[in-house]
Amino acid sequence: MTQDELKNEVAKAALQYITPGTIIGVGTGSTANFFIDHLSSMKDSIKGAVASSIDTANRLKRNGIPVVNLNAVDEISVYIDGADESDHNLNLIKGGGGALTREKIVAAVANQFVCIADDSKLVDSLGKFPLPIEVIPMSANYVKYQIINSIGGNPVLREELTTDNGNLILDIHGLEIDDPKNLENRLNNIVGVVTNGLFANRGADILLLGSQNGVNILKS
Ligand code: 5RP
Repeated sequence: MTQDELKNEVAKAALQYITPGTIIGVGTGSTANFFIDHLSSMKDSIKGAVASSIDTANRLKRNGIPVVNLNAVDEISVYIDGADESDHNLNLIKGGGGALTREKIVAAVANQFVCIADDSKLVDSLGKFPLPIEVIPMSANYVKYQIINSIGGNPVLREELTTDNGNLILDIHGLEIDDPKNLENRLNNIVGVVTNGLFANRGADILLLGSQNGVNILKS
């Protein structure tokens, strides 16, 4: 199977985590897009979906799935989204698509976070994938030098990208992340950082991994 076929298989497998009659959260990216396409087969059994990006909201609407505002819901039963990397404890790097802030908000609200990915995303230690940091535009240089001086790695401004929130992204290359929670907290403390792409304080509860031998289920 190709990587896209593996993504499609895990996306389909995620349908079993949906409780009928509830509101769900939906992530962003190519794996989440496969999920949205499968979700259209269940559109009449859910109350609606909270989207983690404008792209996802548009795709949900095109599939006839009602999109609801997070501030209008009491509860999200499950959040389903992809990842750029996951370690074996289901700490994640996310934000390759630049949607990390809204993704982290929806993940925080959800009762359960089901991550869907092909098995190339599972790593022993996070950091090979450059870690995305969403920053307020006027702070980009300040944050960059704070990272160089106090965190390490090589932060690079992502060219020609403005997030759905009107901000910029720095991608930190060359990090070896041995304590994801600690690094997530330290990055959050830099003035100008809106969100960082480490999902460790709220990692995934379940990771569905598409492999040539089928879908494997990992739990945190
Ligand atoms: C977007 C994300 C995505 O979940 C991540 O980039 C994985 O994308 P894909 O499913 O296309 O491999 O965090 O901000």
